Amino acid sequence: MASKRAMSRSLLAAIATAVLIRRVCCAADAPAAAPANQTRPPALFVFGDSIVDPGNNNALTTLIRCNFPPYGQDFPGHNATGRFSNGRVPSDILASRLGIKEYLPAYLGTELSDFDLLTGVSFASGGCGFDPLTAELVSVLTMDNQLDLFKEYKGKLERVAGARRAAEIVATSVYMVVTGTDDLANTYFTTPFRRDYDLEPYIEFVVGCASDFIKKLYGHGARRINIAGAPPIGCVPSQRTNAGGLDRDCVPLYNQASVVLNAALEKEIKRLNGSAELPGSVLKYIDLYTPLLDMIQRPAAYGEPHRTDPKCESATTFPNRSPCSQDSR
Ligand SMILES: *[C@@H]1O[C@H](CO)[C@@H](O)[C@H](O)[C@H]1NC(C)=O
Ligand SMILES: *[C@@H]1O[C@H](CO)[C@@H](O)[C@H](O)[C@H]1NC(C)=O
Ligand SMILES: *[C@@H]1O[C@H](CO)[C@@H](O)[C@H](O)[C@H]1NC(C)=O
Repeated sequence: MASKRAMSRSLLAAIATAVLIRRVCCAADAPAAAPANQTRPPALFVFGDSIVDPGNNNALTTLIRCNFPPYGQDFPGHNATGRFSNGRVPSDILASRLGIKEYLPAYLGTELSDFDLLTGVSFASGGCGFDPLTAELVSVLTMDNQLDLFKEYKGKLERVAGARRAAEIVATSVYMVVTGTDDLANTYFTTPFRRDYDLEPYIEFVVGCASDFIKKLYGHGARRINIAGAPPIGCVPSQRTNAGGLDRDCVPLYNQASVVLNAALEKEIKRLNGSAELPGSVLKYIDLYTPLLDMIQRPAAYGEPHRTDPKCESATTFPNRSPCSQDSR
């Protein structure tokens, strides 16, 4: 029990710190938290968007990619691997906190060793959302595309581990799902394509997509599934630039949208958790909103001085249209 709580805490810390340090020009690596690996899972599988994409988009024909400097400037070898970050992304940090490995590779475009196959990968694709339109608008992988790749992966895993061990790995590994930000920040607030929905019905639609995704992932054998809520979307750099006025303030409407989305998502996760519909599932909701908002409002408490470095002005913590070309301007 205690170790489970410790694991959720370190999972949260991994994501929260990494989301904030992702700004390319303001970076140091996240402080290490105590490892909690008493129940080390065999593998970590990650689905979602740029927060946890280690380079899948390099293999796609999309503008949403980051395989050039200054991305990766703090990565070993200063390699711009395609991670939307100066260094590691939260999926890497989580893999190492779980005691699995230091870097969680991209599934696409990586020559996966047997070890990679046995210990997990990320299928995440920067720019996607639970709403399939979000990915389609920027030519990246939808969540369903990511599941198709997971299915393919399971075939490869079986060839390495044998059918029985492969099924065991799939059933006992940790799954992490991080997406939804771009549904609101890009598709709803920035493009006209979902404006036939009012905000609340759109959020219901997004949560319906999230619920379907969780059920399908369960159908593929996953049981321990962690789903992150949305960060304070109104406070991420790109949205402050777009809609925050001259002072680049946080945008209250957008933050309110995150709050509504998160409440509905958490409720749905609780409903599905261990239910008759998904027997044996252990679902966790990860609150990114509260710790991130606190870090944004009280940066000094986290040892982060308030930055106004002009290079940061255009950096998008979360992609907005074409984040990388914005950053490289
Ligand atoms: C737990 O993690 C620590 C630090 O990474 C490591 O030294 C230790 O061997 C790990 N224990 C297990 C059981 O994996
Ligand atoms: C960095 O890039 C170099 C040259 O492309 C490659 O040989 C090396 O393996 C990469 N290192 C990492 C950690 O990806
Ligand atoms: C799901 O159930 C497990 C117990 O099986 C519990 O630890 C966990 O907190 C529940 N998740 C949510 C989101 O309530």
